[in-house]
Amino acid sequence: LRTTERIRALLHERDAVLVAHYYVDGELQDLARETGGCVGDSLEMARFGAQHQASTLVVAGVRFMGETAKILSPEKRVLMPDDDASCSLDLGCPADEFSAFCDAHPDRTVVVYANTSAAVKARADWVVTSSVGQDIVAHLHACGEKILWAPDRHLGAHIQRQTGADMLLWHGSCLVHDEFKADELAAMALEHPQAAILVHPESPAAVAAQADVVGSTTQLINAAGRLPTDTFIVATDQGILHDMRMRHPGKTFLPAPTAGQGATCKSCAMCPWMAMNSLQGVELALEQGLCAIEVDPAIAQAARRPIERMLAFAA
Ligand code: MLT
Repeated sequence: LRTTERIRALLHERDAVLVAHYYVDGELQDLARETGGCVGDSLEMARFGAQHQASTLVVAGVRFMGETAKILSPEKRVLMPDDDASCSLDLGCPADEFSAFCDAHPDRTVVVYANTSAAVKARADWVVTSSVGQDIVAHLHACGEKILWAPDRHLGAHIQRQTGADMLLWHGSCLVHDEFKADELAAMALEHPQAAILVHPESPAAVAAQADVVGSTTQLINAAGRLPTDTFIVATDQGILHDMRMRHPGKTFLPAPTAGQGATCKSCAMCPWMAMNSLQGVELALEQGLCAIEVDPAIAQAARRPIERMLAFAA
């Protein structure tokens, strides 16, 4: 049997559903869609996994997404194609250092990005994703709260500029988005004067400043459908181009330039950890129950509250 057919059979036999992020390989996205699973951003993945009746969730993404699924559905088995798939934002925000940072600023409401470990989330008042972070911070700002934000400094600074909130920022960054270069983007825009520029807010400010739309993956996908233009320059992980091209077949999507563009690197804007997700990994996880995600129950209980707060806000 071909791997995809074997996975289809295993999903059925094991009462499992595939939940995939926009940044994973296109084949995995297609399979998730075709088998009644979900392709989405981290908020949509969390919501889908929590609401689906399958007893096993196979999460194709990075580790914090598997952890979030387990925190929201402790009774379900959560498998990942590769549980070593990490995230530079998660790695750049160790729980003990973050906890000391929070202790030093007890007057601030702690808002953490979903791209963090369960232990960091357990210390937060709110968890947010890039799709709802700005709205949640605007809400807290309107209530007069001062924010402690972690870990992505570019997203934090973007939200600060948009909302005017008082935000103390942790200095993390995403190794993919940090590589987008403003000068190279400006040069590319000159070569494609009709193109609209779509930028993820984890990118540096000088890159975001050139954007027609700054937004989360889902917001950028929606913008590509809405804007009356046929060509887009896209500054986020290239995995998203699969979904954009599928939804908008008549339009052209060009990856934005990164530092290593050219001979040394054909497609630099690709998360190495997202790339660890493969069809073979999904097959093995389902067949042998490999890479099952566990979260310490006390940490999971504490982390669940700020995640549920986000889900209720975004409902
Ligand atoms: C996520 O929330 O999945 C990531 O931040 C990417 C995004 O959707 O913007």
